[in-house]
Amino acid sequence: MKALILVGGFGTRLRPLTLTLPKPLVEFANKPMILHQIEALVKVGVTDVVLAVNYKPEVMVAVLKKYEEKFGITITFSVEEEPLGTAGPLALARNILAKDDTPFFVLNADVTCEYPFEQLLEFHQAHGAEGTILATKVEEPSKYGVIVTEPNSSLIKCFVEKPVEFVGNRINAGIYVFNVKVLDRIQLRPTSIEKEVFPELAEQRQLHTFDLSGYWMDVGQPKDFLAGTALYLSSLAKNNPTLLTSPQGNHFVVGGNVLIHPSAKIGQNCKIGPNVTIGPNAVISDGVRLSKCVIMEDVTIKPNAFVRNSIIGWHSTIGAWARVDGVSVLGDDVHVADEIYVNGASVLPHKSITSNVTEPKIVM
Ligand code: GDD
Ligand code: MG
Repeated sequence: MKALILVGGFGTRLRPLTLTLPKPLVEFANKPMILHQIEALVKVGVTDVVLAVNYKPEVMVAVLKKYEEKFGITITFSVEEEPLGTAGPLALARNILAKDDTPFFVLNADVTCEYPFEQLLEFHQAHGAEGTILATKVEEPSKYGVIVTEPNSSLIKCFVEKPVEFVGNRINAGIYVFNVKVLDRIQLRPTSIEKEVFPELAEQRQLHTFDLSGYWMDVGQPKDFLAGTALYLSSLAKNNPTLLTSPQGNHFVVGGNVLIHPSAKIGQNCKIGPNVTIGPNAVISDGVRLSKCVIMEDVTIKPNAFVRNSIIGWHSTIGAWARVDGVSVLGDDVHVADEIYVNGASVLPHKSITSNVTEPKIVM
């Protein structure tokens, strides 16, 4: 089977992390975002993965070569000369997607969920129409694509991308399965699948929806990245609790849902949790308090510091008694001095912060 992942551009909304690594390689719960998706695709039998990108993917090539070997799959970079939108890349990769008659998956690279590819595929094959969209429900649908179905049916009546007026709260989760035939509708030019292809398919009664159970989040922005991490950890707690750091014997774990890499070091009298991930070789000193945060590889948190609701990028240091809060995002190799307060700051790589940042701002 085949899959295409829409990787897209530079991931500007996830800066400053994406100044250092392309978005798909940024670790979500200690694992590159794209690896979560590739592992789930491999599990359902996908052997051909196309990564649709619109920049030169040198950094990614090396990492993904390793995945090719590890999983015995073929990963092809399909590089756009100009951004082709969310549908054009399907036309560009036509030779791979249409190499046989089996349906193929399409994924937005920035969505996390339990990836129910097997059920999705079964459902798709049972209804026989050209496409199926995985759907979820959200309270605030205006920043997504909204799906309206026929009464008591999975058949999509209309699809409205980013509606201005409320049409419903069942939204496009950014994961699809299509028959090869759908490629005949897509030309090699910048095209939006949401605005051009879905409305046409819906009108011709060729598009169904399949409801996702469990969590879902688009993690393309820092606030959502943190929320998505919390959801992912809750799902691990339910389905795979041994992967989490157990509060048994680890008295520093408070409130559960903590994922600590085995190579990280935790000092005395720390309080960690809930909803925390700590990457490889991180050093968490005595008396540190962490909650709802992401601590990446090689970070050092000095004694009695407090980090909440923030992302601390690779190789950074947080000083003793410092306080980082309010969806702050520290890029690679940022240093926060002792006793400093950082609130809602987005800090570019290699910066030192030596005076308080009390209001959200970009530090460059
Ligand atoms: N290759 C390529 N080329 N990929 C692209 C391009 C492009 O020109 N433009 C966007 N992408 C990729 C993005 O990197 C992302 O993985 C995916 O396509 C969707 O683009 P976003 O920019 O993240 O869109 P969105 O989040 O506003 O909305 C989309 O996702 C929602 C779910 O998160 C839509 O599909 C909505 O309908 C959907 O609800
Ligand atoms: Mg998105």
